Order: sequence, then C-alpha cells, then structure tokens
Amino acid sequence: MSITLANLPRLADLPKLPKLPFGSEEPLDPTAGRGKVALVTGASSGIGGATALELAKLGFKVYAAARRVERMETLANLGVSVLRMDLTDDRSMVVGVRTLLDEAQRIDVLVNNAGYGSYGAVETVPMDEARRQFEVNVFGLARLVQLVTPTMREQGSGRIINVSSIGGKIYEPLAAWYHATKFAVEGLSDSLRLELAPFGIDVVIIEPGLIDTEWTPIARKSLVERSKGTPYEGRARRLAAMLRRVEGPRFSSSPELVGRRIALAATTANPRTRYPVGAGAGTVTRARRMLPDRALDAIVSQL
Ligand SMILES: NC(=O)c1ccc[n+]([C@@H]2O[C@H](COP(=O)([O-])OP(=O)(O)OC[C@H]3O[C@@H](n4cnc5c(N)ncnc54)[C@H](OP(=O)(O)O)[C@@H]3O)[C@@H](O)[C@H]2O)c1
Repeated sequence: MSITLANLPRLADLPKLPKLPFGSEEPLDPTAGRGKVALVTGASSGIGGATALELAKLGFKVYAAARRVERMETLANLGVSVLRMDLTDDRSMVVGVRTLLDEAQRIDVLVNNAGYGSYGAVETVPMDEARRQFEVNVFGLARLVQLVTPTMREQGSGRIINVSSIGGKIYEPLAAWYHATKFAVEGLSDSLRLELAPFGIDVVIIEPGLIDTEWTPIARKSLVERSKGTPYEGRARRLAAMLRRVEGPRFSSSPELVGRRIALAATTANPRTRYPVGAGAGTVTRARRMLPDRALDAIVSQL
C-alpha cells in the first residue's frame, strides 16, 4: 500500500529496518589505535571531547582541536595534544595540521566533528551568518580533508570520519541553513568516498540523533534571537520550547555513545558508509526512506 496524506502512519508504526550489527556497548579492541594518529575537531565540548577521549583510550596519539583550548585541559592532562583551531580561519587549520604532521609524521584518522546549528528563517538570517554556517560546517571540514589527504595518500591508508546529523536526512522549518550544511556534508562525503577509495582512504559518515551537548542551547538561542519581532516569532517560540524539552538525558543520548560509535568506525576493518547513532536516529532514517516528501512535511510541520 502506498503512503499518502490520507493514511499517514505514526513514526512509531513504520516497519523496523534490520538492526545494525553495532551495539552501542560493543567492546572495542583496546589496542586498535596503537601507533596511529588521529585529529579530532570540535574537541572542546560534547561529541568531539568524548571522541578524543575514546580514541586516546584505544592507544591513538590524539590531536584535539577547537578555539577554546582552555576547555581541553583535561584531555591535555591525559596526554592528548591540543591545537587552537578556528574553522573560519584558514591559517589556523594549515598551522594545526602542519604541527601535527611535523610531530607525528603521519595521520591515520581525521574526525571532522566541529559544527553548530544556526537557526532562524531564511528570510531573517543575515547572509553573513549563513556563509559562516557553511564556513564552519562544510568548508572548514573540506579544507581539513585537503590538508590531510596528501599524507594519507602517501601512506596508502587513512580514514576520514565526517560528523553529519539526522538533520542531513530530514528537515525542519526555521533551520534551513543548518540542514543545508548537513545535506552538503552527506553529498560531499559520498563523492569523496569514491574519490579516495583508490588510495586506500575510507570516508565514513556519522549521523547523530538527539545528543545531550551544548549544540541544542546554541541552536535554540540563535532561533529565538533571529526570530524576535518577525512574522516567524510564534513558530520559533514553539520550536525553541520543543528543543528545550528534548535537552537533557531523558530524551537525548550521551555524547559518549557517539564517541564510542566514532571510535568503532575509526578502528573496524571494514567500516560502513554511514552510522546513524543516538536518540531518534533510527526512526528518522526509517521515516526518510519510507515516507514521500508531503507525508514527511505533514509530520515535521507539527513542530
Ligand atoms: N548535539 C546534537 O544533538 C547533534 C545532533 C546531530 C549532529 N550533531 C553534530 O555533532 C557535531 C558536534 O556537536 P556537539 O553536539 O558536540 O556540539 P557542541 O557541544 O556545541 O560542540 C561543538 C564543537 O564545535 C566547535 N566549533 C564550533 N565552531 C567552531 C569553529 N568556528 N572553529 C572550530 N571549532 C568550532 C566547538 O569548539 P569551540 O567553540 O571551542 O571552537 C565545540 O568543540 C556538530 O557537527 C553537530 O552539528 C550534533
């Protein structure tokens, strides 16, 4: 039976996809990272911090990058090397990767995780902010790919792990720029996977669902501020209230869960192309595969 607006199913009623073979608590080989080097961006918070820690536990020499280096002191005390890096500043990326390569002489894993959610209606988000959103979430990510691939090619091996989102699969109103960047990360990563496969470099996409980090308050703040006094204010308030409700461990998964999934993707012999992970990720993946656009519109419009 085809799905139409008239017989719209509830999300929970959609048939289950086969379960992923990667349980959240699957034990990781504690020696898998020995002799290997990883760079993790956005490591001053949330998913990036958890990933840096997880990779260090597996024996990787980890370089953790972000703007707020003072937030990475705990990682530094555990032997992680800290790099000050701003994804809107080309020089900081060039210098950061050069420092890593001078010291470590190789790079095995790049985790492109840094990012933020710039919310607000397309009509009200200043174009400079829209460009900044792309600069951080897409162009910064791509620039780091450019900087590490020559070394990975010479090595004949490497793994690039791009953190996308379930927001790279579905869409919400008042979040177009964020979704545009994550859809871009999905497409860029798919093309890149084919470009780099002949050189022995894997490209993996991580699609987190709702994760309990600083991401949601930052997105919520941008939404409320950009919508104030505009025709979108009422809807923005409702969406902000919904985002507020899902914050916290009751509805959102921990960044550690995503960190472990990224560590698995970094170390498993044959990685999947994509790893949906965390609260809502499975449901959204199913919904996107099974529902036509208008049916999904009807569900998402309730936000
Ligand atoms: N939390 C979720 O529900 C969720 C869901 C799906 C996908 N994601 C994605 O997961 C990734 C990590 O987010 P998170 O949830 O861990 O959020 P978070 O706690 O806010 O962490 C974001 C990280 O990105 C870094 N960052 C932001 N702007 C940057 C810039 N201009 N240059 C360099 N680093 C920058 C921040 O470091 P500094 O500010 O110190 O530079 C911080 O370490 C993002 O790509 C996000 O879109 C999150």
